[in-house]
Amino acid sequence: MELEVSSIEKNSLFKNKKLEKINKIQLKKHVDNIFSKKSSDMLGWLDLVDISDKELEEIECFGARVRKRFKNFVVLGIGGSALGVKTIKHAFFDSIHKKENIKTYVCDNIDSDGFLSLITKLDIKKTVFNVITKSGSTSETLAQMSIVLKLFKDKKIKISDHIIVTTTKGNELYNFAVENGMKVFDIPKDVGGRFSVLSSVGLVPCAIMGLDIKALIYGAKEIKENAKKIDYTNLSYLSAYINFTGLVGGLTSLVFMPYSDRLSLTCDYFAQLWAESLGKRYDKKGEEIYAGQTPIKFLGVTDQHSQLQLYTEGPKDKLFMFLKVKENNFDIKLDYEIPFVKKLNNINLSKLFDSEYNATRLSLSVLNKPNYSIVIDRIDERNMGMLIFYLQMTTAFMGEMMNINAYDQNGVEQSKIYTKASLGFDGLEKQKELIESFIKNQKFIGC
Ligand code: PA5
Repeated sequence: MELEVSSIEKNSLFKNKKLEKINKIQLKKHVDNIFSKKSSDMLGWLDLVDISDKELEEIECFGARVRKRFKNFVVLGIGGSALGVKTIKHAFFDSIHKKENIKTYVCDNIDSDGFLSLITKLDIKKTVFNVITKSGSTSETLAQMSIVLKLFKDKKIKISDHIIVTTTKGNELYNFAVENGMKVFDIPKDVGGRFSVLSSVGLVPCAIMGLDIKALIYGAKEIKENAKKIDYTNLSYLSAYINFTGLVGGLTSLVFMPYSDRLSLTCDYFAQLWAESLGKRYDKKGEEIYAGQTPIKFLGVTDQHSQLQLYTEGPKDKLFMFLKVKENNFDIKLDYEIPFVKKLNNINLSKLFDSEYNATRLSLSVLNKPNYSIVIDRIDERNMGMLIFYLQMTTAFMGEMMNINAYDQNGVEQSKIYTKASLGFDGLEKQKELIESFIKNQKFIGC
């Protein structure tokens, strides 16, 4: 993995700040805070890459057994319990790269149109579900599970054979799963949802899909080692430093721009990491700051034809983070001569793709819009592991620089509480009143 930063170094916001001259005292402080776990008690995700080969092999064997037995595999989860797996699945299977060993679906919404249209068309005798929820109490995931349990019950199918539960040891869901003889995987208490993809949350589904989870972990490990370096070759620190400098300089949005169909969902994965970890009302001292940098999703080249106009000629409040893959799996020569576009003849499709990537970077640079690129060699499990860990580390360093707690999500919890209150859960009577009066006082204007 490399960062291409020349456009950043030439940008007026960054001038006088040669990246090589990054403040090493600050860098060391941030690295120490994170790796000594002083900064938070939710840094267990750093240790996930230290899983032994033996443990990985056990997960691989479990995955192989499941794959052999079932035709369909459905993940039920939301947020951090779904986005990592969804991103990886998309990179390897929704694209044309690998033949799917088991038909896999990630259900991270409860819109009944979407969920039911899938569930009702599956042959559930040949389907295995993985219910993933760190807290074990997320309404969306439990509602999905309830629908599935009922389906099995109606068809008199033994649920323990068809449901795998991934949650935190000792919670009510964990106990329910054990009592019902389901296979249960534990999520460590000190690993938060959006940082959990390299735990059983992601490893079990990846093993079931037949991916090389060792390579995934080894790739992540390389970035973990790199993130301890006390110089500007610490890539995730460098990224956070650029993003933070941008934020302080008024770049309140960060556009994440993979130039890769296979990596298009890294946008969603990154958006959650960046938004939920860094959008914070209070800093660590308890002062109200309402901080954050809005992540924006962009797919190259597609969105050049929808969003780029705003980014070039619109307000100077955005930083641009490209993601480029050096080697594609496939390429094709354009060798049907269309008479009125001769220059398109005899070139490879990848040449056009790369030209557009470079043209977009230049279009932003000439207008003094700060941008840089993350470049990976190819899309395989090792590089995916590197990318995931790099994005997590960048988020963690950014949290340090902003002096906020990157691991809580009170804003999300509040909405979960109001949902439960409106359904009449015990102990939430006040919130129930509040939500009822909010709904009663809505004003509609129609036509
Ligand atoms: O990152 C997070 O903590 C959240 O996005 C959670 O993953 C999400 O709210 C789902 O929570 P749970 O895994 O407890 O069902």
